[in-house]
Amino acid sequence: STLFPYTTLFRSVAILLSRGPLRRGAAALQRCAPLARFYSTPVQNDAQQKPAVSIVFGQEPPSSLPDPFAVVSSQLRPLETSLKDLVGSEHPVLTRVAQHFFELVGKRFRPTIVLLAASAAAGGEPANARQVRLAEITEMIHAASLLHDDVIDLADTRRGAKAVHKIYGNKVAVLAGDFLLARASVLLARLQDIKVVELLATVLEEMVQGEMMQVKAMPEELLELDHYLSKTYRKTAALMALSCEAAALLGGHPPEVQAALQAYGRHLGIAYQLVDDHLDFVGSAASLGKPALSDMDQGLATAPVLFALEEFPQIGDIVKRRFGDESDAALVGDLVSQSDGLRRTQELATAHARKAAEALGVLAPSTARDALLRLCFDVLNRQA
Ligand code: FPP
Ligand code: MG
Repeated sequence: STLFPYTTLFRSVAILLSRGPLRRGAAALQRCAPLARFYSTPVQNDAQQKPAVSIVFGQEPPSSLPDPFAVVSSQLRPLETSLKDLVGSEHPVLTRVAQHFFELVGKRFRPTIVLLAASAAAGGEPANARQVRLAEITEMIHAASLLHDDVIDLADTRRGAKAVHKIYGNKVAVLAGDFLLARASVLLARLQDIKVVELLATVLEEMVQGEMMQVKAMPEELLELDHYLSKTYRKTAALMALSCEAAALLGGHPPEVQAALQAYGRHLGIAYQLVDDHLDFVGSAASLGKPALSDMDQGLATAPVLFALEEFPQIGDIVKRRFGDESDAALVGDLVSQSDGLRRTQELATAHARKAAEALGVLAPSTARDALLRLCFDVLNRQA
């Protein structure tokens, strides 16, 4: 496995704890691992089958790596229909809203990762029926979180269309999100694997806490990269990390495969959100399907701003007042572009994408593993 001094320490303590009654503590320590990794110096990965590629921001993946969505397309296509079938309800408005949401063109990034993780863990065998169901559950949780998030963020648009709460109002949007969560919970219980239920329930807990950290932080915390990274793990990466781990569990794979896929999802998820935050500065509204430069307008300081803060300390007070003055966002936008903030965000995203790729070294080579590797490039290159 990959060896990092701090991570190894965290892991050892976590393993010890996991043997005793303090399992929750062990889980929390495991979740600290991404932060420890961030501060530690990489040491050569000694895995025999480490994928031999170098991942560079903005560089095309080797043409030998397959299109991840194409590899699982035969399982992704029916998922479009089944998602809509699965969210039918006795109330026509709930059904309409839930189905409307799944008709919008999403990337289906999360189900793709789950299907590929399931397959890569099994040396390239396609995901089994329970793993396909897990992929659906993952997309339902994601959709629920977006319905709620758009209410919280007062967003006008989502996936290139009017946000659900803009069409149906907040009450219906919140209830539709709750309904998706409820339906996902029923489907999850039917998988009849208590450990998988615990993992996905933990995801919900993490996501709510991550969103809360974003909405209600102490002014000083807003300046801390640690706080930002911890929030990022919870809000975005936990779903990918723990659903990849759950895919391994449902395939009956050993702990080292579960851990590797968890690490893969965690690092890919953090890279994904870092790129999201980077795109907020450099992307266009048309390609993003939502307004660009919206984070600062919402009072949020993301990685580019936190890195720029090191060069321009005057950003600190602006971050603490959550960009409350009219000219704040424009001023910080200028300072960010004069600073190394965007480049350092790219670098950090790249470091996490590399860690995700390294985690795959535990798995036997297969087309699905190559597709997961390709996602480590794609996550850095995405424009939307
Ligand atoms: C998008 O973030 C939102 C999330 C990644 C998760 C939001 C989590 C909650 C609303 C907590 C409730 C959770 C559940 C499971 C119901 P963003 O606002 O940075 O991205 P955006 O620009 O796409 O909106
Ligand atoms: Mg939002």
